Amino acid sequence: MSFDRSLKIAPSILSADFADFGREIQAIEAQGADWVHVDVMDGHFVPNLTFGPPAVKAFRKHVKTVMDVHLMIAPVDPYIEAYAEAGADILTAHVEAGPHIHRTLQAIRGAGMKAGVALNPGTPAEAVAHVLDLADLVCVMTVNPGFGGQKFIDMTGKVRTLRSMIGDRPVHIEIDGGVDPVTAPLVAEAGADVLVAGSAVFKGGSVDAPEVYGANMRAIREAVRG
Ligand code: DX5
Ligand code: ZN
Repeated sequence: MSFDRSLKIAPSILSADFADFGREIQAIEAQGADWVHVDVMDGHFVPNLTFGPPAVKAFRKHVKTVMDVHLMIAPVDPYIEAYAEAGADILTAHVEAGPHIHRTLQAIRGAGMKAGVALNPGTPAEAVAHVLDLADLVCVMTVNPGFGGQKFIDMTGKVRTLRSMIGDRPVHIEIDGGVDPVTAPLVAEAGADVLVAGSAVFKGGSVDAPEVYGANMRAIREAVRG
């Protein structure tokens, strides 16, 4: 995985058909997804429950691009090895999920993955100031995590601050929550390069009508291009 700041769309399979993940992943990749975003929720850190390492391992067989695993779980550290074995390329932990984000990011890299750190809307950019050299990605949540299809919360000021804090470091800025053709240009202009989108990519489409996924992703890219 080489680093670049070109715009990347990472559809969240939280909005896919849960009975058909393999074909859904193939469909979004065939339609131009850059990464595949996998939302892991534990019913404790967030009030919703999705899937764990065995399911993520099964997704891996279908992902040809980059498997971007977003952990909304606490604690994180006991599960890092399991997600490495499941084949995550990027493993993102929330800074709010425990007292030792520094150790967590080191452990993620130590297990051979790229390390991401996520910030809830209420957490300031400064919370990651001392771990930027240990991170490959900062995920700025633009909804309170737990559910797809929520309304975008404007975090463009935080994105701008992070972009200047990151400087020349090879660290992606990812936006997660409420991204659509209206909100995507705001965050891209502020310095984000990875846009997670669940409902805006999957809406109106299916594995039998995958061209809708392609059109939805193109609409986001074209809105950013202006
Ligand atoms: C929210 C998840 C997101 C979510 C995005 O807790 O982390 O990845 O699926 O969904 P949309 O794009 O519908 O807001
Ligand atoms: Zn996510």
